[in-house]
Amino acid sequence: MSQLSDEISRRRTFAIISHPDAGKTTLTEKLLLFGGAIHIAGAVKSNKIKKTATSDWMEIEKQRGISVATSVMGFNYGNYKINILDTPGHQDFAEDTYRTLTAVDSVIIVVDVAKGVEQQTRKLMEVCRMRNTPVIIFVNKLDREGRDPFEILDELESELKISVRPLSWPINIGAKFKGVYNIFENSLDLFTPDKQKVSERVEIDDINDSRIDVAVGQIDASKLREDIELIEGVYPEFSVQDYLDAKVAPVFFGSALNTFGVKELLDCFVQIAPSPRSVQTEERMVSPEEEGFSGFVFKIHANMDPNHRSCIAFVKICSGKFERNFPYRHIRSGKVMKFAAPTAFMAQKKNIVDEAFPGDIVGIPDTGNFKIGDTITSGEILHFKGLPSFSPEMFKYIENTDPMKSKQLEKGIQQLMDEGVAQLFTNQFNGRKIVGTVGQLQFEVIQYRLLHEYGAQCRWEPLSMFKACWIESDDTEALAAFKKRKHQFMATDRDGRDVFMADSNYVLQMAQNDFPKIKFHFSSEF
Ligand code: G4P
Repeated sequence: MSQLSDEISRRRTFAIISHPDAGKTTLTEKLLLFGGAIHIAGAVKSNKIKKTATSDWMEIEKQRGISVATSVMGFNYGNYKINILDTPGHQDFAEDTYRTLTAVDSVIIVVDVAKGVEQQTRKLMEVCRMRNTPVIIFVNKLDREGRDPFEILDELESELKISVRPLSWPINIGAKFKGVYNIFENSLDLFTPDKQKVSERVEIDDINDSRIDVAVGQIDASKLREDIELIEGVYPEFSVQDYLDAKVAPVFFGSALNTFGVKELLDCFVQIAPSPRSVQTEERMVSPEEEGFSGFVFKIHANMDPNHRSCIAFVKICSGKFERNFPYRHIRSGKVMKFAAPTAFMAQKKNIVDEAFPGDIVGIPDTGNFKIGDTITSGEILHFKGLPSFSPEMFKYIENTDPMKSKQLEKGIQQLMDEGVAQLFTNQFNGRKIVGTVGQLQFEVIQYRLLHEYGAQCRWEPLSMFKACWIESDDTEALAAFKKRKHQFMATDRDGRDVFMADSNYVLQMAQNDFPKIKFHFSSEF
């Protein structure tokens, strides 16, 4: 095997996603423990913005420093090179998470056994579904009282709209939790609540092995056998291909806090999760094995030092080998660039790297050249697809409060939007600028950063809006008629595309009824 294909096949690049508090940070930390990337639990400071600080911007500013360090966590596990991409825990930064999902090859979803599928999980799963991303589900907090595991499986199927297949099975739950039977490896793991150490494993031949009765008692052993029989009867045999095709999600049970069920998850994950796959560009399919280097920017992290407008652009490598100081083409500008100090993240340390391979993420120091979605290649003109914008949930007019600084404001808004902090629309009727976000917090972030990084002051004016819908039609006359009729509510996005700003669900439904020839899209990718 060539060096390139060898490097590709051992890479696993993924994200852990969950509703806040389900245990994403804890699980991440435990995975790092197994990878030897950290040595003691509690070493990872999450980039999670604590509940107490929901609208405390200074607190967020502090945490942004942490989040650079935890943006990508790379480590070796056996022969595998694992890259975990961190996603912001706070819901108001969901858009960031959506974009990060474009840079991963698979996903682990964490669900709290007591709470089941929560709102944020549902939304993130929609993004995975759009992209056919393979998912593994980890049902967490089995050491606490929770719901019946069969009930959880049903809920996962109906709420996440994906078939599931348990690959491990809990023996009791909460105070009576005794362990997990590993269906994937046919072994039994006994639960010993301990935050640092791995649990005890009982070697067994199969589910009828009497060592199970000795380990957990006859009553629980019989119940386990009944459950497993039911599972084997109800769920088709696990097919790795179906998982890779995003048709079925394997499910594991455990307790991240107690490091229980985590190693089983990781061992199965490295075996079945995909290595980097071919990626669609506007021009053609790009295979990771190709000689030519290509990658795209999925995240831009602004520097915290307001005196230097420098940031780090995170590039996901899609094909070929990336090398330091090689001339690469920045497709949008046509410029040839050399990167003298690209960084990668291994075992919690940020180091300058000389080379990197598909699946890896490199951080490139930048002074405003990059925009989210930009493609970089060895020379070929390619445009990676698939960094959709979703309709924001909150909208406000942005107004300049210092007429002397209108240029600064303009520049600041442009650059913050390039970073993907929020979305900007221009109302076609009155020319006013509308900023759309996922949550209130982003408005505070923008106002603060405009002032501190650009010296520009802005004010928000309320705007009651339901959704931004990208519209299109094959029928140009119908499109023109729609735009004329709704001219007060028409806007353009930053790429000049038509967006209908519906101020209520009712108005949107009426518009859909009255104009059947118009297609309404709730994300910019269609
Ligand atoms: P998140 O990143 O998904 O938001 O969740 P995080 O890992 O921070 O976990 C949320 C809370 O749930 C934490 O408690 C964490 O200790 C707890 N937790 C995670 N896994 C388990 C588990 O398997 N069992 C139990 N019982 N609890 C678990 P916290 O009190 O909010 O925070 P902390 O003070 O313990 O850090």
